[in-house]
Amino acid sequence: MKLIAYCLTAAMTIATITTASAAAAAAKPKGEPFGKTADGTPVEVFTLTNAKGIKLRAMTYGAIVLSLETPDRNGKSADIVLGYRTLADYIKSTPYFGAIVGRYGNRIAQGKFKVDGKQHSLATNNTPGGMPCALHGGLKGFDKVVWQGEGVTQAGAQGVRFRYVSKDGEEGYPGTLALTVTYWLSDNNEWRVDYLATTDKATPINVTQHSYFNLKGEGNGDILGHELTFKASKFTPVNAGLIPTGELRPVKGTPFDFTSKHAIGERVNSVDEQMKFGGGYDHNWVLDNQTGSLALAATVYEPTTGRTMEVLTTEPGLQFYCGNFLDGKLTGKSGRPYEFRNGFCLETQHYPDSPNQPSFPTTILRPGQTLKSTTVFRFGAN
Ligand code: GLA
Repeated sequence: MKLIAYCLTAAMTIATITTASAAAAAAKPKGEPFGKTADGTPVEVFTLTNAKGIKLRAMTYGAIVLSLETPDRNGKSADIVLGYRTLADYIKSTPYFGAIVGRYGNRIAQGKFKVDGKQHSLATNNTPGGMPCALHGGLKGFDKVVWQGEGVTQAGAQGVRFRYVSKDGEEGYPGTLALTVTYWLSDNNEWRVDYLATTDKATPINVTQHSYFNLKGEGNGDILGHELTFKASKFTPVNAGLIPTGELRPVKGTPFDFTSKHAIGERVNSVDEQMKFGGGYDHNWVLDNQTGSLALAATVYEPTTGRTMEVLTTEPGLQFYCGNFLDGKLTGKSGRPYEFRNGFCLETQHYPDSPNQPSFPTTILRPGQTLKSTTVFRFGAN
């Protein structure tokens, strides 16, 4: 009798555990209040977790990733993306920490382009080398608007789906653009970003994720020791205004060659005209994979913690920016200032200024077409 009772209790415990974990896997992340913008629009934060101890928090303002905690080789977690603690800090001033940038990520020369012969003008919100250009979507790009957020799930992954409709003429861009960006965090340690967009008029579009990484943990100093490999044998050199010259230049024999592993700091201070223009690395690499299917673009290794990151994308380009504009004036979420080169971005994208560069892959989306793009950040430690 005792044995039967014991077996029954054990069976019930197993049943309870099974139900509980099944429920956890199916649980849709819920939006929690995260403050309000100046005009009173509520902002929500969604928390995604996986079975391996990774946690990603993202908010509806700018679809910004607020934090991303991953374990190091000893299982110790740290937040590996730069950012702030509060919404007010993001609203005040941010160099696009964690945000989705667009409608056109990166630069358009002089903020001008033509589509089907018609001229369009954008605000020029950036002047590298004294040369005005439009950067990252304009004065109020996708990083500064409130998106609609919705928790989603699928087998082995939790997600948040962000939607934003950018009106015809917004920031000078033609056509009403309906955009969906979904962040998935899976039990196999992938943060997947899926983009979907449609338009009712032909428009350039180049959306990307602008997280600043430091695999030592944010606020833990510079990123110069991170070792990178890129699947890219060419890059797009720029002029002093950081606008591509149109050339696809082989990286071989230059400090831009990451076809084999190199630390960021190894050649970043080389005497090189391109390095001078960028103030370090701030360039677009031409990925070897130009097929539009998902392929490995970059691998990152941080030797002190053992953390690794692989970046896979369907996009043809990768902007590697090593935090050259960080100067210690911004204080991060753990109360420490972000100094020069304390974070780096790997922005999967089409090439900068493509609307003015007929030889680059097109960025024009037309009515009836659907833009589909995917980037995966895969984390590990060894
Ligand atoms: C991108 C650009 C950089 C800089 C940062 C934001 O990476 O290429 O030049 O504007 O965004 O500070």
